[in-house]
Amino acid sequence: MQDNAPPRTYRVKSFGCQMNVYDGDRMAELLADQGMTAAAEGENADVVVLNTCHIREKAAEKVYSDIGRLVKAGREAGRQPMIAVAGCVAQAEGDEIMARAPAVSMVVGPQAYHRLPEMLDQAAAGKRASDTDMPADAKFGALPQRRKSGPTAFLTVQEGCDKFCTYCVVPYTRGAEISRSFNALVEEAQRLIEAGAREITLLGQNVNAWSGEDSLGRSIGLDGLIRELAKLPDLQRIRYTTSHPNDMSDALIAAHGEVEKLMPYLHLPVQAGSNRVLKAMNRSHTVDSYLKVLEKVREARPDIALSGDFIVGFPGETEAEFEETLRLVDAVRYAQAYSFKYSSRPGTPAAALDGHVSREVMDERLQRLQASLNRDQLAFNQASVGSSCEILIERKGKFAGQWLGKSPWLQSVHFEDNDGAGAAIGKTVKVELAEAGPNSLKGHLLQPVLA
Ligand code: SAH
Ligand code: SF4
Ligand code: F3S
Repeated sequence: MQDNAPPRTYRVKSFGCQMNVYDGDRMAELLADQGMTAAAEGENADVVVLNTCHIREKAAEKVYSDIGRLVKAGREAGRQPMIAVAGCVAQAEGDEIMARAPAVSMVVGPQAYHRLPEMLDQAAAGKRASDTDMPADAKFGALPQRRKSGPTAFLTVQEGCDKFCTYCVVPYTRGAEISRSFNALVEEAQRLIEAGAREITLLGQNVNAWSGEDSLGRSIGLDGLIRELAKLPDLQRIRYTTSHPNDMSDALIAAHGEVEKLMPYLHLPVQAGSNRVLKAMNRSHTVDSYLKVLEKVREARPDIALSGDFIVGFPGETEAEFEETLRLVDAVRYAQAYSFKYSSRPGTPAAALDGHVSREVMDERLQRLQASLNRDQLAFNQASVGSSCEILIERKGKFAGQWLGKSPWLQSVHFEDNDGAGAAIGKTVKVELAEAGPNSLKGHLLQPVLA
């Protein structure tokens, strides 16, 4: 800022995964705790936090162009914002950002953002500040209490990754795996519920590697945490993401068949359908071991909606190996999935491999893969037409009387309440599913409204 007035408004822009959304919300709470308010849509903010993602290429370039845009808007308004770069690009490239972008006054890594207020004070006094230290778990204890929540909320239970897939930057940007303590998590879940949450999604880079001790000092895994959270009366739904196939314990699989509040949805990335490629990726599972896990999960919870992540064009991937991915997809029939072109990340072992696949071939493979995935997603949605299910209402729709929410299988469903049956954000209603598209369903509200 050019004048000396203290910053009054903030904006936090989060990119990347759900954990960044969680982190971004926590940073917004930290700034609100300093007496600042969120800038209105379209208004220049006094403090802008760019909460960045480093997972695929062009991440850093995007940050620099965002900074350029902010500086230009500040020049036009005659008041420059204080800019903080947070998240995984800050962790990976903090020093370069400080050197290349003088407009940035704070660089704050994913394990250091609880220090944002004091860094802001330093920056206001004209001192640029950077913190990319990685003290395990320190930030969680230093964050403000949760005060406000929509009907669905994220809760980070585990952070970091020890798996070192050869293409991936996450072990370097998020650090080693840590699990937050059971007591801290139950407490934060209770607060979120008091603040309005009805559904909690437990987050971690390898969330099913979570481990801890329950209130009696017994060692438990994620299934134990889920069973405990399911006892909280006003919590209706529990989800978790992202899981690694090798950490899918029998106890967690059993919980899918036993814990009613645990929703029938599992995101279990596989990445590729060829054992040679999986080995080169250092995935430490095979196609067969992955399918075996899915078989057990389907046995425990036959209606489960399965989701996955895929990378096409990993270095050395042949046409025949890619076709194995298509065959895997045909065998599994995912309800939903994410697919990406391989992106070479500096410093990862895969970046040094031979046989990089051309952009054209990657484009073509991605198109074919997505055609299969879209086919299955539509089929999954169509198969639910005619049945009825509970929808947790998340927001109002575009049209008067229209509401939007999610089914237990994480499908987006919209429906109308023209008779004033009492639909409202945060309520769970019974809806008959009537029409299916690839990305959403239309339903009819059944009386009476449940909760
Ligand atoms: N921890 C999670 C998510 C990691 S990032 C997990 O292991 O499942 C989310 C997804 O991004 C990955 O599952 C992978 O499909 C994709 N991804 C990661 N690194 C990538 C890269 N270098 N190029 C393309 N996609 C990548
Ligand atoms: Fe990345 Fe692999 Fe860890 Fe997932 S398991 S975060 S893909 S290294
Ligand atoms: Fe991106 Fe970091 Fe998440 S690299 S995907 S924001 S862990």
